[in-house]
Order: sequence, then structure tokens, then C-alpha cells
Amino acid sequence: MSANCGDMLCGKVAVVTGAARGIGHATAALLAEHGASVMLCDLDREATEQAAAEIGGSACAFAADLTRSDTPQALVQTAIEHFGGIDIIVNNAGYTRASRLEKMSDETWHAMLDIHVTVPFAILRAAGPHMIAAARHERAAGREVFRKVVNISSTAAQGSPFLANYGAGKAAVIGLTRSLAKEWAEHKININAVAFGAVDTRLTRLNEASNFIEIGGERVRLGLAEKVRELIVGDNPFGRYATAREAAGGVFLLCTPWSNWIHGQVLTVNGGQSGGMSV
Ligand SMILES: NC(=O)c1ccc[n+]([C@@H]2O[C@H](COP(=O)([O-])OP(=O)(O)OC[C@H]3O[C@@H](n4cnc5c(N)ncnc54)[C@H](O)[C@@H]3O)[C@@H](O)[C@H]2O)c1
Repeated sequence: MSANCGDMLCGKVAVVTGAARGIGHATAALLAEHGASVMLCDLDREATEQAAAEIGGSACAFAADLTRSDTPQALVQTAIEHFGGIDIIVNNAGYTRASRLEKMSDETWHAMLDIHVTVPFAILRAAGPHMIAAARHERAAGREVFRKVVNISSTAAQGSPFLANYGAGKAAVIGLTRSLAKEWAEHKININAVAFGAVDTRLTRLNEASNFIEIGGERVRLGLAEKVRELIVGDNPFGRYATAREAAGGVFLLCTPWSNWIHGQVLTVNGGQSGGMSV
């Protein structure tokens, strides 16, 4: 962390989950480009370390499955020990488990609630005491410092076929965001959400056999059918998917001082599309 640099986020420490690839990686890179020290968290050690090395500077990797009960606390503890504090948290890690509701197992249902709302809750619960203590210290010193939490939702929260579990998790994280915004406002911690539409990552690429996430020893197929992909592009005013970097732009805004007065909001980043992954 280099102090006194002229960058907007100089001296800030950010934790970004799901940062080995896709939107999380693009977000971590943008934050680092603007001076932040970033801890990247993701499942697979090699991919996470490679992503941190690509970003360079003070970026570092924390590889673990966030749905294991001890991981959120360990992530926060490691970031505090390594960087001395946390100013920005981006709860981005996620994936999909598509299924018709009639055939959806309990496990598939709970997996989506776990990663999309329970993990953000657990990370924020672990980080809260540190962020609040720092805020109290600053207030006592007569300084006003804004910290940032960005939780990643989806336009699928508005309804998406075969993703009732994912849509429920992405809607629940909006409730978490709005409630915590009221609770932590006194500590000058902005809590917002970003609801993405269709972004070009492995979640929206073709659902062929090679497109999967390995989690808890299980391979979960990702991606969309060709027909759905075509429908999404046809429905988008700009006629294509967002790049991961374009999507990360919305998150980045909510991590900068330019969003100090944006609080408890859901920013839709979908290129004006009505349905996102779901059309
Ligand atoms: N791509 C889209 O169109 C789209 C649309 C709406 C919302 N989103 C959301 O954006 C976020 C980022 O997704 P993406 O599109 O970049 O997908 P991605 O697959 O490229 O990246 C997601 C990352 O999260 C990680 N992750 C998943 N479960 C994890 C766990 N238990 N512990 C640690 N890391 C874990 C994955 O390993 C992966 O690297 C997700 O929350 C997703 O639901 C994406």
C-alpha cells in the first residue's frame, strides 16, 4: 500500500470475492488501478494467485470456499492482518444451479442462498467490528471517512425461469443491503447493491460440458443454451453482452468517493435490457 499517491483509492484496502475471473477479477483490477490494495478471494488457489499476480502491486490471493463456515471470518482476519484494515468489500462470488422447481433438491436450493446471501452476511458480520471501530476512531478525531460495501445482485431477482433458487438469493441480498444501510449509516459505511443483466462471463457462455464450476467436490454445469443466448442479445438495446470490465464499472463507482451520497440503493447495470440473464 503506497501512501500519498495521487490515485482516488490510494491507501484504501479492498476485499473482492469471486475475484479469480469474470466481473470480480475486473473489479479487483479497476480498484488496484486506482490505488487500492486488493485481497482477491476465490475457490481455486492457482487461479486466484494467477489473478492477483496479473493485477500486481500489493494485490494478494486468499483461496478458499466461502461457503465453508470458517472461511468468511478467516478472510476478514487475513485482510486485517495483511493490510491493517478494510475500507471496501465487494461481495461478488456466485454461480448458478439451474433446475425446474419441481425437480429442485433441498441442496440445490440452499446452495444458492448460501453463496448469494449467507456468505455476504457472514463476511459483513466478521468485518463489521473492525470497520465500526475504525469509524469511531475517526469520528473521535473529527474526521469523516466513508467505507464501502457493494453486494452483487442480478436482474434475475425480478424473476427468472429455472433459477428460483438463484433469484431468491439475489433478491435476499437486496434485503440485506437495504437493512444494513440503515444500520451502518451512522458509521459512514455506504452499503449498496449492483444488479447485473447479461455480462459475458462463464455464467452466460454456452452450457457445454467444458463450462462448469467445481465446488464441494462436485462439478456444476454453468452457462446458457444457445437459444437463450440469442434471445438475450436480441433483447439488449446495445445488441450484445456487457464485458466484465464494463460491468465492473458500476461496482467501481460505488467504491469511490463519488458515491458517498448513494446509500441503500440497487444500481441496475444491464445496458437498458429488461430481463438480464432471463429475458
Ligand atoms: N455474468 C452475468 O451475466 C451475471 C448476471 C447477473 C449477476 N451476476 C453475478 O455476478 C457475480 C460474478 O459472476 P461472473 O459472471 O463474473 O461469474 P464467474 O464465474 O466468471 O465468476 C464468479 C467467481 O465466483 C467464484 N465463486 C463461486 N462460488 C464461490 C465460493 N463458494 N467461494 C469462493 N469463490 C466462489 C468462482 O470461482 C468464480 O471465480 C456473481 O455473483 C453472479 O451471480 C452475473
